[in-house]
Order: sequence, then structure tokens, then C-alpha cells
Amino acid sequence: MADRWLAYEKLSGNIVMASGEAAQAAAGLAPVIFPHWRHGFYYDCKACHDGVFKMRRTAGTITHEAIARGEFCGRCHNGELSFASDKDCAKCHVAGLPGSERMTDTTNIGLDEIKETAKRLGSGWYQSRLEKGVLPLDRFGDIDWEALREDEVWKPIKKLDGEGADETRQTVIVFKPTVPGVKQVAFDHAHHTAQIRCESCHQEIFEKAAGGSPVSMDAIASGRFCGTCHGKTAFKLAGCSRCHSIEPDRIPAGALVRE
Ligand code: HEC
Ligand code: HEC
Ligand code: HEC
Ligand code: HEC
Ligand code: HEC
Ligand code: HEC
Repeated sequence: MADRWLAYEKLSGNIVMASGEAAQAAAGLAPVIFPHWRHGFYYDCKACHDGVFKMRRTAGTITHEAIARGEFCGRCHNGELSFASDKDCAKCHVAGLPGSERMTDTTNIGLDEIKETAKRLGSGWYQSRLEKGVLPLDRFGDIDWEALREDEVWKPIKKLDGEGADETRQTVIVFKPTVPGVKQVAFDHAHHTAQIRCESCHQEIFEKAAGGSPVSMDAIASGRFCGTCHGKTAFKLAGCSRCHSIEPDRIPAGALVRE
């Protein structure tokens, strides 16, 4: 993909869709930016994954024809739940155009805009619980969704059309790095399954057994295991201490320890 499009992906969860760039250009259109974060105010991952979209890039399968039939983006961008895909072309086909700054600047969204949309969709948005009255951002400018969740500022929609069960799990799995001085990592099923379906992680990303998957930092940094989401659509890997947070030899009560 052209470097100038990659700049849009610095913000976690922005995906430039340029697989049909030639066809789009022939129609006088710019490539599409899909901003995960502008959807995260209203929807949990479960609403889209893996029912509407695969949890990976499938360049070429999302065509405008399918969207017009009500698939993919067309499930919601139908003029009822959200703006229509048979007009407003430049709301999605926006890379390189004025308006694209709305996709990359997390301070460029009005709280009233979120409130209005949440009300229309029937998701929860409790603005008065926002600490200091502003969206919490981490040091990379990404929205700190965990802070929003802890303060119960929002209650995203979990399902479209009531499809699929809402399954959760409570176990915590502790990863013990063998490198001296590196803090342990706790993976909390409860946090993750509140928003993500089991099938999104099992079995393609992780075996369903503590210690079953050969997880290492190198593999994560190359986009596998935790790196399937962290560094792409969840907080960045450079936030080391958000994962490496547990002192050596201190195991949270009830946690499963990987050997
Ligand atoms: C409104 C729908 C929607 C929601 C909600 C959503 N996603 Fe996605 N996600 C997409 C689309 C669209 C793609 C691209 C799919 C494609 O190319 O076929 C995608 C792709 C991804 C990818 C692959 C990214 C890459 O760069 O390889 C990951 C990982 C992902 N999503 C995780 C998540 C997580 C985690 C959440 C919740 C925090 C989430 N998604 C919420 C629509 C959504
Ligand atoms: C689950 C429903 C849903 C799906 C699926 C979905 N969207 Fe959205 N999208 C929304 C809602 C709701 C908003 C918030 C804007 C509004 O309606 O007020 C939004 C906002 C956006 C925005 C921000 C526009 C702006 O200027 O603020 C873009 C861009 C966008 N969507 C693109 C896409 C693309 C591209 C796809 C498919 C790859 C897609 N969306 C799939 C519901 C959805
Ligand atoms: C809700 C978001 C959205 C809106 C609004 C939208 N498109 Fe698209 N469009 C897409 C996505 C996603 C793709 C696939 C991009 C890719 O993978 O390269 C696409 C692709 C295309 C393509 C390339 C051929 C193809 O099917 O992949 C054309 C042509 C196109 N759109 C025309 C339009 C026109 C004309 C409008 C306005 C009438 C419009 N689009 C509005 C999301 C949108
Ligand atoms: C965000 C990713 C993710 C999601 C979503 C997820 N898991 Fe897991 N699961 C893991 C990881 C990581 C492990 C540990 C794998 C390892 O040690 O190799 C694991 C291990 C397990 C294990 C063995 C350890 C234990 O807890 O007993 C079971 C069983 C399991 N998962 C069931 C589920 C079920 C049921 C769901 C849905 C309610 C689910 N998982 C959702 C990531 C996930
Ligand atoms: C399927 C996507 C996905 C995978 C895979 C995943 N996470 Fe997450 N994780 C998320 C999302 C989404 C959040 C919410 C915060 C955010 O969006 O930045 C989160 C939050 C967290 C948090 C903060 C909340 C808490 O539980 O304390 C930690 C720590 C964390 N993840 C660790 C891990 C580790 C370690 C792995 C691998 C064993 C992993 N995650 C795999 C998506 C994922
Ligand atoms: C998304 C969660 C996450 C983040 C963020 C993260 N790590 Fe890790 N890290 C892990 C997991 C899981 C392991 C595997 C532990 C084990 O079982 O050996 C690991 C292992 C390691 C190891 C042990 C060697 C190895 O490859 O297993 C080192 C060193 C390490 N991480 C350093 C870092 C540094 C430095 C950062 C910040 C730049 C970082 N990590 C950010 C989850 C994370």
C-alpha cells in the first residue's frame, strides 16, 4: 500500500481499504478509511466480529456491490442506522481528502455528536461520568477504552439483530517470561470476553489450554497471538507495562499459571 495511505493507520484501528484503488480512482473516488475507533463508541467487537467481518484484512472481498446489497458496511450504512452508502461517497472514500482529519484526530469528535448517535442507536453513553469531561487518551493519542469501561461511561451494543449468544469466561492466565527482570503478564478472560467472542480467539489465535500456544514477544511483535489486536486495534505494544504488570512470583488468587 502507498506510504501516504499508511500514515492514516498510525492511529490504532484505522484501516485504509485501497484494494480496489484502481476501480475507485476510475470512478473519481479516493480509497476508503475504516475507523475502528469511531465505531467503538457504539459497538463492541462482538457486534461485527466474526459475524459481519472476519477479524483480519480480506482485501478485495468487501466490494461496493455487496455493500449495496446490505452486506458488510451496508448492514448499518443504509440511511437508517447510519449514513447511506448510495450517497455521501466521500464520508468513506475519504483518504487524502479534506474530512480525512476526522478519522485521525481523536480530539476531533464532539461529545454531543457521540451522545446524539448513541441515543439514536440505543447504546449507552453517560457523559457525566467522564473524568474531567474529556475523552481519556493514552500517550499515543489512542482512546483509552479501558478507562471508559472502568468508569462505566459507555455501554456499547453487543449484537446486531440479536444473533449469537453472549458468552463470557472469568479465568485469568498468567504468563511467566523466562527472561530475568521482566514482569509477568496476566491475560484476563473477563475483560476480553465482555467485548470479544470466543471464536475470534479460539482456535485460530490461541489453543484452548493454558500453556497450549507458543507465545513469545517476537511472535507478538510480528502480529501473532496478543499482537493480532494489540498494536493494531487495541492499545499499542509500546505500552509494555499495561501487559507486564505483575511482579515476579506474585500470582493473582485463582489464576492459572502457564508452565
Ligand atoms: C463496525 C464494525 C467493527 C467493529 C465494531 C470492530 N471491527 Fe474489527 N474490523 C472491522 C473491519 C471492517 C475490518 C476489516 C475487515 C476486512 O478487511 O475484511 C476489521 C479488522 C479487524 C482486525 C484486523 C486488523 C489488521 O490490521 O490486521 C482486527 C484485529 C480487528 N478488526 C479487531 C477488532 C477488535 C479487537 C474490536 C473491538 C475493540 C473490533 N475489531 C471492532 C470492523 C469492525
Ligand atoms: C454495526 C454497524 C456499522 C457497520 C457494520 C459499519 N459502520 Fe461505519 N458507522 C456506524 C455508525 C453508527 C457510525 C457513526 C456515525 C453516525 O451514524 O452518526 C459510523 C461511522 C463511520 C465513519 C465516520 C464518518 C464520519 O465522518 O464521522 C466511517 C468513515 C465509517 N463509518 C465507515 C464504515 C465502513 C467503511 C464500513 C465497512 C467496512 C463501516 N463503516 C461499517 C455503523 C457501522
Ligand atoms: C459506508 C462506506 C462507503 C460509502 C458511503 C461508499 N463506499 Fe464505495 N466502497 C466502500 C468500501 C469498503 C469499498 C471497498 C474498498 C476496497 O477494498 O478497496 C468500496 C469500493 C468502491 C468502489 C470500487 C469497486 C468495488 O466495488 O470495490 C467503487 C467504484 C465505489 N466504492 C463507489 C462508491 C460510490 C459511487 C459511492 C457513493 C455513491 C460510495 N462508493 C460510497 C465503502 C463505501
Ligand atoms: C482475546 C482472546 C480470547 C478470547 C476472546 C477468549 N479466550 Fe480463551 N484463552 C485465551 C488465551 C490467551 C488462553 C491461554 C492460551 C495459552 O496459554 O496458550 C485461553 C485459554 C482458554 C482455556 C484454557 C484455560 C482456562 O481458562 O480454563 C479455555 C477453556 C478457554 N480459553 C475458553 C474460552 C471461552 C469459553 C471463551 C469465550 C467465553 C474464550 N476462551 C475467549 C484467549 C482468549
Ligand atoms: C482479539 C483481540 C485481542 C487479543 C488477541 C488480545 N487482546 Fe488484550 N485487549 C483487547 C482489547 C480490545 C482490549 C481493551 C483495551 C483497548 O481496546 O485498548 C484489551 C485489553 C487488554 C488489557 C487491559 C485490560 C486487562 O485485562 O487488564 C490487557 C492487560 C491485555 N488486553 C492483555 C492481553 C494479552 C496479554 C493478550 C495475549 C495473551 C491479549 N491481550 C490478547 C483485545 C485483544
Ligand atoms: C499485549 C501485551 C504485551 C505487551 C504490550 C508487551 N508484552 Fe512482552 N510479553 C507478553 C507476553 C504474553 C509474553 C510471553 C510471556 C511468556 O510466556 O514467556 C511476553 C514476553 C516478553 C519477554 C520475554 C521474552 C519472550 O520473548 O517471551 C520480554 C523481554 C518482553 N515481553 C518485553 C516486552 C517489552 C520491552 C514490551 C514493550 C515494548 C512488551 N514486552 C510489551 C505480552 C506483552
